[in-house]
Amino acid sequence: MALLEWVGPDDARMRAVCDLRHEVLMAPFGVPRDDAWGDDDPASHHLLAVEGERVVGYTRLIVHGEEAQIRHVAVAFDRQRTGIGRALIEEACREAVVRGVTRAHLNARLPAVPFYERLGFVVISNEPFPSGRTAQPHVRMERVLERGDP
Ligand SMILES: CC(C)(COP(=O)(O)OP(=O)(O)OC[C@H]1O[C@@H](n2cnc3c(N)ncnc32)[C@H](O)[C@@H]1OP(=O)(O)O)[C@@H](O)C(=O)NCCC(=O)NCCS
Repeated sequence: MALLEWVGPDDARMRAVCDLRHEVLMAPFGVPRDDAWGDDDPASHHLLAVEGERVVGYTRLIVHGEEAQIRHVAVAFDRQRTGIGRALIEEACREAVVRGVTRAHLNARLPAVPFYERLGFVVISNEPFPSGRTAQPHVRMERVLERGDP
């Protein structure tokens, strides 16, 4: 099973994170590689899922007061559907609670909506909207967090 680790933007494995984000989130839509992900943003906290030396999953938690956004959730293609995505989201929500967050939100690609629903997120936007570099249709989802949650 993958281990989860919070790292800073200068961690050497953030190179592998750039590879993963491009491969999983951008390349399938023909988006040219661009590693300008704003990783130095001081409000961003980076969560890796690692198996040995390999980064197999990633997400970013962005905290603004009692609100947080979860972004760039990516699991390596050959490791999807093995529980890594769930582990990343649950750990991001746990960390958010520790930081005083009461509400986590995200923009979900439509194929990922059932995944987030399994993790307690609900759709709060009406119509899907294009988002990010892929311009794929997304919906806004949120999960109310409580102390002791998950
Ligand atoms: C979406 C993604 C993050 C899910 O991560 P994962 O590691 O494959 O998911 P998990 O194995 O942790 O699945 C957790 C649960 O969600 C379900 N699930 C996962 N992906 C699903 C999907 N696309 N549709 C329906 N259910 C899904 C699993 O079956 C599992 O259900 P269970 O609790 O009944 O066992 C991953 O598939 C991925 O990186 N996809 C491509 C990039 C992407 O779409 N990122 C999200 C951008 S908003």
